[in-house]
Amino acid sequence: ARTRLAAVPDPTATVPEPASPIVATDAALLDWVTEITALTEPDAVVWVNGSDAEYKALTDKLVEAGTFVRLAKKPNSFYCASDPSDVARVEDRTYICSVEQKDAGATNNWMAPSEMKAIMTDLYRGSMRGRTLYVVPFCMGPYEAEIPMLGVEITDSEYVVASMRIMTRVGDRALELINAGGTWVRALHSVGAPLAPGEADVPWPCNDTKYITQFPEERTIWSFGSGYGGNALLGKKCYSLRIASVIARDEGWLAEHMLILKLISPEKDVHYVVAAFPSACGKTNLAMLEPTIPGWEVQTLGDDIAWMRFGTDGRLYAVNPEYGLFGVAPGTGWTTNPNAMKAIEAGNSVFTNVALTDDGDVWWEGMTPEPPAHLTDWKGREWTPSGLDADGNKLESAGQPAAHPNSRFCTPITQCPILAPEYDEPVGVPISAILFGGRRKTTIPLVAQARDWNHGVFMGATLSSETTAAATGAVGVVRRDPMAMLPFMGYDAGDYFKHWADLGDRPDADQLPKIFYVNWFRRAADGGFLWPGFGENSRVLKWVIDRLEGRADAQSTPIGLVPAPGELDIDGLDVTPEDVEAALAIDVDEWKAELPLIDEWFDFIGDTVPESLHAELAGLKSRLGLA
Ligand code: GDP
Ligand code: PGA
Ligand code: MN
Ligand code: MN
Repeated sequence: ARTRLAAVPDPTATVPEPASPIVATDAALLDWVTEITALTEPDAVVWVNGSDAEYKALTDKLVEAGTFVRLAKKPNSFYCASDPSDVARVEDRTYICSVEQKDAGATNNWMAPSEMKAIMTDLYRGSMRGRTLYVVPFCMGPYEAEIPMLGVEITDSEYVVASMRIMTRVGDRALELINAGGTWVRALHSVGAPLAPGEADVPWPCNDTKYITQFPEERTIWSFGSGYGGNALLGKKCYSLRIASVIARDEGWLAEHMLILKLISPEKDVHYVVAAFPSACGKTNLAMLEPTIPGWEVQTLGDDIAWMRFGTDGRLYAVNPEYGLFGVAPGTGWTTNPNAMKAIEAGNSVFTNVALTDDGDVWWEGMTPEPPAHLTDWKGREWTPSGLDADGNKLESAGQPAAHPNSRFCTPITQCPILAPEYDEPVGVPISAILFGGRRKTTIPLVAQARDWNHGVFMGATLSSETTAAATGAVGVVRRDPMAMLPFMGYDAGDYFKHWADLGDRPDADQLPKIFYVNWFRRAADGGFLWPGFGENSRVLKWVIDRLEGRADAQSTPIGLVPAPGELDIDGLDVTPEDVEAALAIDVDEWKAELPLIDEWFDFIGDTVPESLHAELAGLKSRLGLA
């Protein structure tokens, strides 16, 4: 049973509504809202303006409904437990409904748009009965962008509206840009849980039938049945990656699953770096890293998504389309990620599927070395470290983590204490290096530099990682996750590789960022991590920057350029030289075992894999003595 907690008094004073509300005038938007209202039959329609008063009313409603618990220990912050079945992205229910199947490619689920629309229209019919339909105008990236990237999400979930307000730029300013003629993406969401007259609601309405559907040619998103962030906050994965990757292909830019960070060297040189790691493989942590090496400083610009366009100088400039952090909670603590901890201490956050302390704060595994003596777990059950209640009886929660492994904090990025001042610069920041990385126990060394652009594209295209709790399904299974975009490519994977490879043919290709491949997760024989990770990853970043500046030597291996002996700064590092060596090692036998998997992968994608990547694979085989 769900523990009911005593109400916490709300410290926020009443906030006035804006004086003159902005009204939608865009005919297409008005028609669409009318059409969806007729289809879904909500009790009420509310246009979201983004004001503080509106947020207050929404969160009050969520507390009232039992969806949110107001935290006593953090200002304007809430604990939220989802339905236990709705905790992660559902990749097997995610579709790219391009007109032609070949455009979705081998890595995406596909259905003909008309067929999918028929199925989902039936699902949406009456799906908002007893609920409120919210119209959420939003902008991905700065409002001041040359072409603001607008969208409108229609949703029947107050949780989604509250979370969208943290994660994106929401409200009147976006609506004004739409009124002024800006193009916008249609994003429709319903939790799929209509209420009969008088029927009581549940804290987390959702539906066992789920569809997360992108119609790339129409720049349209339809999502049904889930309230989970990655499935329901449609500005994030659905728009900024799946739809935006198609726009980017058409317009010659890149929409990628990448953090953006700024590195300042002891000499005060500034470099911007992006890094693509699969979900729950270290982006948020690297984006906010506290360097352990003296004199180096990191500032944050983004922790999940980068949109990169070419500047007139031929360099790639990255913008973070988001406005908030949707971070994995477990493992986030004062030793691993103090900057994330400071960001959430500032309040204004929603915590989903974490544990609740008895004094009205949140907790999760890895926040503190020892858990509190008593908690409410993410399923709303009593939880203790011993698994026993006060009478010594075994609890139902015994032996289970108090927070779900994919529990999340949702926090304004402006609360990150090391946010770079230029984080919302409309043209973005020029990128010096791209890191690809995954979670691999074996084979992949701590760091390797690509010999050139094409080799770097090969590294990205063959990126592999163990699956995590960020998506439903088995955890710990090695799969290919190209550029960490497997769940997010809005079109054929081979065409996506070609889009990347073609950048290497630009006349100013020497201006492209340099590419590196990292792995913080290699294991020793005893199962422990060989590399301490977190702040110590600054040592790898230093080698990367020193390579760009021509200050560090590399040694050529069959798989790429690795730090020459003594070139990785391990001064003061609390790790044996043998472990560092093992983290950096290239084991030819492991690589020989990897090659058939890469062959299989390219076969699976099919004949759209560009010739240049087949040539890279042949080169790798011959360097390993296999051809
Ligand atoms: P994201 O989903 O890619 O943003 O990944 P996060 O930064 O949220 O990290 C996901 C999980 O990996 C968390 O539990 C982190 O504590 C853990 N993690 C992040 N960086 C490292 C690292 O360098 N080493 C190790 N061992 N774990 C890490
Ligand atoms: P993550 O973002 O990459 O920080 O885990 C959410 C997701 O990819 O589902
Ligand atoms: Mn992500
Ligand atoms: Mn993250």
